[in-house]
Amino acid sequence: MRAYQLERFDVPPRMVEVPKPVVSEGDILVRVLAASVNPVDLAIASGNARSWLDYRFPVTLGRDLSGRVEATGAGVAGFAVGDRVFGFIADHEAHAGSFAEYVSLPEGAFVVQAPANVDDVHAAALGLAGLTATMCIDAANIGSSSWLLVNGATGGVGSYVVQIARNLGAHVVASARTGAEELYVRSLGADVAIDWSASDFVEAARASRPEGFDALVDVVTADPDAFAAMARTILTSDGAAVSTLGAGDPGRLGRLHGTNIWSSPDVSRLRAIAHLAQEGHIQAPVRATYDFAAIEAAFEAVRAGTTGKVAVTLG
Ligand SMILES: NC(=O)c1ccc[n+]([C@@H]2O[C@H](COP(=O)([O-])OP(=O)(O)OC[C@H]3O[C@@H](n4cnc5c(N)ncnc54)[C@H](OP(=O)(O)O)[C@@H]3O)[C@@H](O)[C@H]2O)c1
Repeated sequence: MRAYQLERFDVPPRMVEVPKPVVSEGDILVRVLAASVNPVDLAIASGNARSWLDYRFPVTLGRDLSGRVEATGAGVAGFAVGDRVFGFIADHEAHAGSFAEYVSLPEGAFVVQAPANVDDVHAAALGLAGLTATMCIDAANIGSSSWLLVNGATGGVGSYVVQIARNLGAHVVASARTGAEELYVRSLGADVAIDWSASDFVEAARASRPEGFDALVDVVTADPDAFAAMARTILTSDGAAVSTLGAGDPGRLGRLHGTNIWSSPDVSRLRAIAHLAQEGHIQAPVRATYDFAAIEAAFEAVRAGTTGKVAVTLG
């Protein structure tokens, strides 16, 4: 089978032919039909993830996937051959990822049944970003009258945060450049868009809601000082500040509720995402799709910046 692998640090990943995995007891063998590329895949491919993630070479890259169960190992009870599945793989080490035609996975860890009305390409874009978004929404304690500011709303995680918050009835102010990006975040349900490239984003956000926001979800700001300054400027005194980049520092945030999100596969959350998609409350924002043979172009698209998600087809 084909797999997109990193063979060692300091060389680019490449497409290789490797043996199809053997399904073991308790595992399911998934024929991967689609995947999506996340910023973490670029970090793993470049070796930049080595400070926080163990690598076991050769590393088959990739986290998100959708596919079909091709075989089940002894003792597997929750899946049958032919089941459509989606989810994301995040093991304790980078080794057997989703950018491969087949992957063998432990039952009950990384994938769940795919929603019937979502095709393989869109299902492949639900896992990592969708799960992270649900964690952000919960940490931000979003309810029907909440005012939420989303910084990085145009990307994978932000696109889901906007949709889920809107579905809960919250008021959403989203970062987006004027033009196509603004139309995009409005199509997701944002009430207001702020062009972060043309103005002081924090001041413009404050002007859009002088009474203060109940919550900030920020997937862009890595600097804890900048994150705390933004949170103090735009949140109400008991607001919640949520970061996917580890920027939330309690010492700097004072009385504000700060949460750093570190996502990991969780089948109950994946089922909740499947339900949201099944009910039409969220749509996977796939904006570009590449054939597996052109996966380097998919990486480049993510590196260059794109709204929504970039998918890869392997079927
Ligand atoms: N901690 C965790 O568990 C976890 C989980 C998922 C993701 N993450 C991290 O969270 C970040 C977001 O993930 P993602 O998948 O949503 O990435 P993404 O799809 O690349 O989205 C980031 C979005 O932010 C936009 N952006 C860039 N600079 C901005 C700025 N100064 N102000 C406002 N928007 C800006 C980007 O626009 P352009 O494309 O035009 O640059 C892009 O649309 C990544 O760094 C990722 O590694 C962490």
